[in-house]
Amino acid sequence: MKKATKFAPLWMLAAALLCLLALLIASPETAEAPPTQSAAPTAFPTPEGLRLAVASDTHLDPANTDKQSGLGETAYNMELADALLYDAREQGAKLLLLTGDLCNSGRRPKHEALVEKLRAAEAEGLTVFVLPGNHDLAPITQTEFAALYAEFGYDEAYSRDAASLSYCVMRDELMLLMMDTAGYGVAALDLEGAPTRTDSYAFLSEETLRWAQTMLQSARELGLPVLAAGHYNLLPEISRTENTGYYVENGERFAALLRQYGCKLYLSGHMHLRAVYEEEGLTEQLTECLIAYPTGYTVLDLTAENLRVTPRRVDVESWAAATGQSDPVLLGFESWQRQGLRSECRETVEIMVQRNPLGEGEKESAIRFFDAVMSAYWDGSIAARREELKGMEGYGAFFRAAEGFSYGWWLKDLLDTASPKLAGFTIRL
Ligand SMILES: [Fe+2]
Repeated sequence: MKKATKFAPLWMLAAALLCLLALLIASPETAEAPPTQSAAPTAFPTPEGLRLAVASDTHLDPANTDKQSGLGETAYNMELADALLYDAREQGAKLLLLTGDLCNSGRRPKHEALVEKLRAAEAEGLTVFVLPGNHDLAPITQTEFAALYAEFGYDEAYSRDAASLSYCVMRDELMLLMMDTAGYGVAALDLEGAPTRTDSYAFLSEETLRWAQTMLQSARELGLPVLAAGHYNLLPEISRTENTGYYVENGERFAALLRQYGCKLYLSGHMHLRAVYEEEGLTEQLTECLIAYPTGYTVLDLTAENLRVTPRRVDVESWAAATGQSDPVLLGFESWQRQGLRSECRETVEIMVQRNPLGEGEKESAIRFFDAVMSAYWDGSIAARREELKGMEGYGAFFRAAEGFSYGWWLKDLLDTASPKLAGFTIRL
């Protein structure tokens, strides 16, 4: 097992989950399945002040909707996008931020399908702002992306960065600093001010940093709070370590800039998991991939004094009923997800016990333990239930079975380090 460093546990977890999800999307027949999680809490706080929704990694793909494919939630990507837009409106969100990987590739028809959905949502009163992720450009270029999403940020911007697809919006007594963290193909870099690059790494250029500072200065002078967002992550150790594939050039400098101007929250996606990082007064909220369990997003409630951050599961079933869907999977989506993931959890333990045998009773208790830990992770209760989970009958059996498998070390890390903030938190402004 890799020795833990100051930031290692959560980024190791992040990397592990990312790999698992990537495998599930790319090649489900060979993937080790993720474990089972529990139902989301039913009670949800009422809006306070301005309510915003943040979703990420929607990976819309109209060509990837074969319900018999075994791809699970991925095959429902089109419906889940509709359900998200419905649920955000139902919860009283006025704004929705999509923090990149909007589509499964930078192909125009996929973006056009999303634009059609976003246009319908705006007609219903939900204003949408988008950002590019590493999957969203090439073959389409930066210029084409901005034109496609003109109605969802680029034509509404208070200012646009000449060097990237970053832009800034001022509305509702708030500044939204929407950062293009790149990471897409260099062939897509066609803005006049875009830097010359020969690689496809994530980066924030010097010019983009200067532009961001000008925006932050404007917010300071106008007395506006700032919410910053980007696709790539700033605070996890992996995003600061070169040659990891997750590194963001100048990411630390941008984080320092946010602190300098008193910005308290940076919103990101990319890792396909929910996590909260906090360092020197700056908090980063990672929003999970929409098209995987638990089809979650993040809700922000902004008042003059506070910014409340609350995770939420898309109520797919209510959307399905309200829109007359006939597919029984959609009408009972939560139990379908639970059932599917529970069996995947079982399959994972079955694979592990082939190498590290357990008795039948021990195996069943290991499965129950695995299910309980992941349930607690996704419903945010894991920190509060840490000791109870460690005391479960299947604890020892699971880790004996997991010896030599990645699940072993990352589940231990998860149990030891998961933040109580996974259940939501409030930042004083
Ligand atoms: Fe993604």
